[in-house]
Amino acid sequence: MKVVCTEKSQILGSKVAKALDLPLVYSQFKAFPDGELYLKTGVLDNETLLVSSTVDNQSLVQLLLMIDACEGSEITLVLPYMGYARQDKRFNDGEPLSARAIARALSTGVSRIITVNIHEDSVLSHFRAPAEDITLAPEMARWIASLGCDEPLILAPDKGAAAFAAKIAEYGGWETDHLSKTRLSGEEVRIAPTSVDARGRDIVITDDIISTGGTLATAAGMLKDGGARSVHAACVHGVFASGGFARLAAAGLASVASSDTIESAASAYSAAGMIAAAVKK
Ligand code: R5P
Repeated sequence: MKVVCTEKSQILGSKVAKALDLPLVYSQFKAFPDGELYLKTGVLDNETLLVSSTVDNQSLVQLLLMIDACEGSEITLVLPYMGYARQDKRFNDGEPLSARAIARALSTGVSRIITVNIHEDSVLSHFRAPAEDITLAPEMARWIASLGCDEPLILAPDKGAAAFAAKIAEYGGWETDHLSKTRLSGEEVRIAPTSVDARGRDIVITDDIISTGGTLATAAGMLKDGGARSVHAACVHGVFASGGFARLAAAGLASVASSDTIESAASAYSAAGMIAAAVKK
């Protein structure tokens, strides 16, 4: 087996190869003058571990091309961040079930799929190859332990994220709770007044995705007004759209961290170890 990665997952792909002690295939990427993408892989093995987050439309097309380039080799696709997973329902008439459309497209030519903290488990059923989701809760707990907080409260911004926060808290033996969020628009949310006693506490808000930062900025403001000593943010997928990272920094978060499912300077912990363990299973 050899490891292949697309451009936006080159650091994570390299770490996965190292963790599994597998050769990494160097691939070349470029665009034609009209904007169409081109790639060329090196020499493949009869089994390929393809590591590729679809962080934008360009990386999605690159992944489709890479799957095709790997034809003839049995592909295990690691999809650390799956774009379009949040449109997991038809919220209004006439909309696509985008997560299903993408899952189906990415299944062609692939034998096995591994996702990381996918937004909704139901999305896994749309793949047309065996698919499993792994969690970075242990890695995030390790990161939180390194922050030097005093008995941190692990807080989910809404009920949907409560189970993930509880899992992280379980690893550290910390207290956990959740807020109640209503989404007003793509960038704005309302957080209901909470019974969480923030006074004098170090609080770490955890979520699967930070996109615009609207959710966590609103929650952090409320917690600081409530007397929190410090508020940190930790997520799996740091999208940081529309200046999301700066929005959180400006909101007074003590730290903002994400994994490398989306590679950035905020990537404080890696998904590589958990991915390697899942591949070995
Ligand atoms: C939504 O259900 C997700 O779990 C995140 O809470 C959401 O994507 C965060 O978005 P934003 O950072 O734009 O508030």
